[in-house]
Amino acid sequence: MIIIFLGAPGSGKGTQASVLAQNLNIPFISTGDMLRKEVGQSSVLGLKAKSFMDQGGLVPDSDVISMIKERVTQKDCVNGFVLDGFPRNSVQAKALDRAMMEINKEVNKVVYLEIPESVAIDRISGRRVCKKCRANYHIKYSQPKIADKCDACGGELYQRDDDKQDTVVKRYQVYLDQTKGLIDYYQDRLVDIKGDMPIEHIGKSIKDKLKVAVV
Ligand code: AP5
Ligand code: MG
Repeated sequence: MIIIFLGAPGSGKGTQASVLAQNLNIPFISTGDMLRKEVGQSSVLGLKAKSFMDQGGLVPDSDVISMIKERVTQKDCVNGFVLDGFPRNSVQAKALDRAMMEINKEVNKVVYLEIPESVAIDRISGRRVCKKCRANYHIKYSQPKIADKCDACGGELYQRDDDKQDTVVKRYQVYLDQTKGLIDYYQDRLVDIKGDMPIEHIGKSIKDKLKVAVV
């Protein structure tokens, strides 16, 4: 099963996609996480990506497409995968379609998480992320048991560089201009989910609507 999560920054893509992937026992693949890892390692890609990410813009298609093609053709993706943050525009969507056709696969479902802009901003400004395992928390809605420590691995929690107010507004605009149109591109596979609900409620809706048997 190949599932894409689509939605505005802060819509809950990472939160929901990671849980679904775990339940389905297939890889969770987040281009944002992959790029942040490259930035952390100061790789050639990371140094290039940083300037785009810090300004809330998209990293060039060619770089992101190569990165994702390399990842989804690895052995652990043979039974499917869950994508968070890719594709971000029609160039990336078409590249993914071509890459999947080459291996006789296709995108099966696209989960669209719909939220108002005010909710997106509120969620992003309160988000905290584990430095070690990259698990997501929120200072109001998803607090760790011990302040600033990850429940899963004990890692230190931090605020993403691009979660500052100005960058968030730019990211939201980029989403409206370049990504939201993918709803039409994937109309035949779209699973519409109301994203302005408690985390567990959304998880259940996704499971119910996808009708997937979870392990
Ligand atoms: P990326 O990391 O993908 O960021 P994004 O799309 O802006 O999305 P977010 O991670 O901010 O939000 P999310 O929907 O995952 O929400 P989350 O679950 O964390 O991309 C970052 C940058 O990398 C881009 O700007 C771009 O530069 C680059 N990039 C990435 N992919 C690219 C691509 N394909 N092409 C080019 N460039 C690319 O939830 C947010 C917060 O809310 C958390 O604190 C969470 O705990 C909380 N929360 C979640 N659900 C709920 C709920 N139901 N109720 C209350 N709180 C909730
Ligand atoms: Mg995310």
